[in-house]
Amino acid sequence: MKTANWIKLEIPSDTRNVAFARTAVALFASQLDWTLDELEDIKVAVSEAVSNSVIHGYSLQEGVVIVEARYEGPELSISIEDFGQGIADIEQAQEVGFTSIPEERMGLGFTFMHEYMDQVLVASEVGKGTKVTMVKRVKDVES
Ligand SMILES: Nc1ncnc2c1ncn2[C@@H]1O[C@H](COP(=O)(O)OP(=O)(O)OP(=O)(O)O)[C@@H](O)[C@H]1O
Ligand SMILES: [Mg+2]
Repeated sequence: MKTANWIKLEIPSDTRNVAFARTAVALFASQLDWTLDELEDIKVAVSEAVSNSVIHGYSLQEGVVIVEARYEGPELSISIEDFGQGIADIEQAQEVGFTSIPEERMGLGFTFMHEYMDQVLVASEVGKGTKVTMVKRVKDVES
């Protein structure tokens, strides 16, 4: 079993950095034994969470996003935190198809995060910010 490891990225809220965060976390995550599909799932979940911070948390304005990833044994945990506007109704935000920008968005970001990760936890306070923590475990492989 691999010993624990972690990374922490602090990036300005900018759509350019969505791809950066997604690739950086995937590169870190690939220290564990995922299938290619699982690694794709992790990339999608990270992009959705980081885009949410940029688009909703900071309304495409300036801000800081903190991305942390760590694993211990087979369990990978990723958190994406912003200090933006926050979410008033956390349950509703995670409903399939719910979006506060219906003219532009599909409201599927949280749905993908839940679909592709084993656990998704959202902590948010209006006016303070949002932290999304997602966990995924390496599946047991028959040996
Ligand atoms: N970091 C955040 N800060 C503030 N509000 C957020 C944040 N993340 C999500 N939300 C709120 O939750 C809603 C649902 O998010 P979700 O990612 O599921 O859909 P979306 O971003 O609106 O659309 P899509 O992800 O399909 O482009 C958003 O419309 C927004 O109101
Ligand atoms: Mg979204």
